[in-house]
Amino acid sequence: MRTRSFADCIPSAEIIASVRRVVGCRAPRLVRVGARWSALSAKLITGSASLFGAGCAGVQSTLSPAGKQADDLATLFWGLSIGTAVIWVVVVGLALYAAYVATGPLSHGAGRKLIVGGGIVVPGVVLCGLLAYSLSMLPGLLAAAPDGALTVRVTAHQYWWRVTYEAPSGGTFELANEIHLPVGRPVEFQLESTDVIHAFWIPSLGGKVDMIPGRRTRLLLEPTRVGTYRGVCAEYCGTSHALMGLFVVVQPEADFERWLSSQAQPAISAQAGQPTKGANVFLATGCGGCHSVRGTLAKGTIGPDLTHVGGRRSIGAGITEPGVDSFAAFIARTGEIKPSIHMPAFGMLSQDDVLTLAHYLDGLK
Ligand code: CUA
Repeated sequence: MRTRSFADCIPSAEIIASVRRVVGCRAPRLVRVGARWSALSAKLITGSASLFGAGCAGVQSTLSPAGKQADDLATLFWGLSIGTAVIWVVVVGLALYAAYVATGPLSHGAGRKLIVGGGIVVPGVVLCGLLAYSLSMLPGLLAAAPDGALTVRVTAHQYWWRVTYEAPSGGTFELANEIHLPVGRPVEFQLESTDVIHAFWIPSLGGKVDMIPGRRTRLLLEPTRVGTYRGVCAEYCGTSHALMGLFVVVQPEADFERWLSSQAQPAISAQAGQPTKGANVFLATGCGGCHSVRGTLAKGTIGPDLTHVGGRRSIGAGITEPGVDSFAAFIARTGEIKPSIHMPAFGMLSQDDVLTLAHYLDGLK
C-alpha cells in the first residue's frame, strides 16, 4: 500500500473546497486538519520548553542580560514572544472551537467578516503595533557615545580579534581575543575587518554588528553586571568561523584601570630559570615576524600581540585555556587545532624547542 504524503492529506482541490465551505459554510475539513496540526505543534512547543529554559543562562546568552542594550533586547524578545504566544493561543482556540463546537454552517456575511477581520484587520494592527514597539528601541541603540565613554577598537581577522585600547599614558596598545570593560560605563566599539565580513557579538551585552572590510562600523554597549562573558563571530567567515570567540571581562572601574595600566606595560616574563632562552628561541624561529611581544625585538603585526598572552582567558581565540600543554599543541599542530588559519604549524621544531616556546609564552603574564 502506498504511504500517504502530506500533500495527499491536503490536496489543493480540497483546500479550495474547504475555503469555500468556510466562506459559504459547512463542515470545515481544513479547519479540522489545522486543529490536528495545532495540537501537534502545542505538544512540540510544550516539550521543547524545558530545553529552551535550560538555554537561558550562561556566559553567552541573550536571555541572561548583563548590559543595558542586552536588557532592552531581552525585553523586546519577551514582549514579542508573549505577543505571538497570545496570538497562537487565540488562533488555536478558534480552530478547536470551529472543529469541535461550532461545526454548523456559517452565513456568507459571517464568513466574510471572519476573513476580513481575522485575516487583515487584526494581523495588520498587531504587526504594526509590534513593529512600532521594536522600532522605538532604535534611537537608544544608535545613539552617539556619551561623554566619558570608553573607546575600544576591534579588528576582525580570519579567525581572531585584534583589540586596541588607548593607553593611560597616551598612545595605543594591542591585545587579542580578550576585552576588559568597566561596569556601568558606556563603551563605543569601533569595528573593522581586514579580510572578509565578520560580525561582532557579545550576546550577554547587546546586539551584533557586521565588521566589513573597508568600512568602520560602531556599537555602543553599557555593561551593568560584573562577570566574564563570551563573544563570538556571528557571520560565517570561513572554515574556522566557529572557532572565533573572545572573552569579555566586566569589572569594577578601579580593577579595570589597574588592568589597563598593567596591559599597557611591556612583557614581564614570570618564568623562573631560563627567561632569555625562550625569548631567543621565539626570535630565532621567526615568531617575531608575525607576533609582537612588547619590550623585546619581536615586533610583527600580522598575528596577535602576545605581550601578556599567558595571562589571558584563552588562546586560539576562545578555543582553549592557556597553559604549557595548550601552547605546545598550538605551536606544533596549529592546523589540526584550528583549520585554515594563516599561522603554519611548527611541527618541524624539536620537542625541546616547542616546550621552551610554550614555557616562554605561558610566562608572559
Ligand atoms: Cu569571523 Cu565568522
